[in-house]
Amino acid sequence: MSLLRKQPGDVGLFDLPRLIAVRKDAARRARLFTKPDMTYLFWEATLRCNLRCRHCGSSCEGKSPVRELETAEVKGILDTIAQDFNARRIFVSITGGEPLLRKDLFEVVAHMTQLGMRSCIVTNGTLLDEEKAKRLWDAGMRTICVSIDGLQDEHDQVRGKDSWGKALAGVTAARRVGFKRVEAITCVRPAQLGHLPEIEHAVRQAGAQMWRLITIDRMGRAEKDPELWLEPPQVRQLLDFVETRRKEIARSGEKFDVRFSCGGFLGVRRELAVRPGDGQCFAGLCVASILCDGQVSACPSLPREWAQGSALERRFSDIWRNEFKQHSDVTWRRSGPCTDCSWFEVCAGGGLHERLVQPEEFCWLDRQQA
Ligand SMILES: C[S@@+](CC[C@H](N)C(=O)[O-])C[C@H]1O[C@@H](n2cnc3c(N)ncnc32)[C@H](O)[C@@H]1O
Ligand code: SF4
Ligand code: SF4
Repeated sequence: MSLLRKQPGDVGLFDLPRLIAVRKDAARRARLFTKPDMTYLFWEATLRCNLRCRHCGSSCEGKSPVRELETAEVKGILDTIAQDFNARRIFVSITGGEPLLRKDLFEVVAHMTQLGMRSCIVTNGTLLDEEKAKRLWDAGMRTICVSIDGLQDEHDQVRGKDSWGKALAGVTAARRVGFKRVEAITCVRPAQLGHLPEIEHAVRQAGAQMWRLITIDRMGRAEKDPELWLEPPQVRQLLDFVETRRKEIARSGEKFDVRFSCGGFLGVRRELAVRPGDGQCFAGLCVASILCDGQVSACPSLPREWAQGSALERRFSDIWRNEFKQHSDVTWRRSGPCTDCSWFEVCAGGGLHERLVQPEEFCWLDRQQA
């Protein structure tokens, strides 16, 4: 380790404005630790999938391992949420599995809209044509996120033959029917690092206005597949790219957004340079999930044992208000590498799912360390 090289946790005099902004974000999150306030809901629509991606953290394939909620059950749970919370403040992210495999998807989205909730879908894009995009639009959805895992070869290597072309066509279909917010999401692995600019070009050509770059969590089929994981120099390379592009885009005034996503604290210099504020983990603070079998969890990436009860047996709001104790308790997180960390108040011990699924590798300061 070089003593001269700046480390991700370092702060100098010139970082003062960023330090103030990061502390403000941390104070907002600290208030949620004291008083959780559910405004972001995931609906894991299904664990079935028409693809079988090599990196899939949920190990999805053709069949679901559990009995999944029926239409009336999902709508019933949403009804109780609208009765017990302010639905207009709730944004629902519909994920999976592949949500477009659910025949009742449009009906459920329309129901969310009627209740006052806003929604988006995260999809592999292969089933998204103009007809389906139009039905989602008509149901009231306004944001679509499509996974694009690199250029054609890299994407098809993990997602299967011909999936890249179909996914990009899905992005274009969404734009054609009027979606203004179409986001591409790329799970970055070492194979894509050499040509991130070309991937940006491809997603922009297809019509995406936003590009989110994430790394692969060591869970599901990716758990024992180190070829998919980034080493610290590769993490720095990725963050450098995002930082540079955000600066260039801001300078040029282009209408395109590139950002990095992870649940952890990236250090004062990186945090606001690679994404806007409040990028850290809010699982169980303002984020909850309805899993495909009706279990209520904080986020779908958490281990299943972290579910807090079934919304088929108890009212969702009862589970949200009376369980989720460990999520808003920071004391247990002051352990391991976080015990003496001077950033603990800002970071609160890392992103929850990252901490649980990869306990050796969850600190984003360590993950960038030179
Ligand atoms: C679980 S998928 C469900 C939606 C849809 N089937 C898709 O692939 O977009 C949601 C997002 O998680 C990403 N993802 C899958 N496995 C992951 C992993 N091990 N780590 C991080 N992200 C992962 C996918 O690439 C996708 O962008
Ligand atoms: S990442 Fe998405 S598309 Fe790929 S197998 Fe998992 S759920 Fe299916
Ligand atoms: S050691 Fe823990 S608290 Fe400190 S930055 Fe890393 S994850 Fe956050």
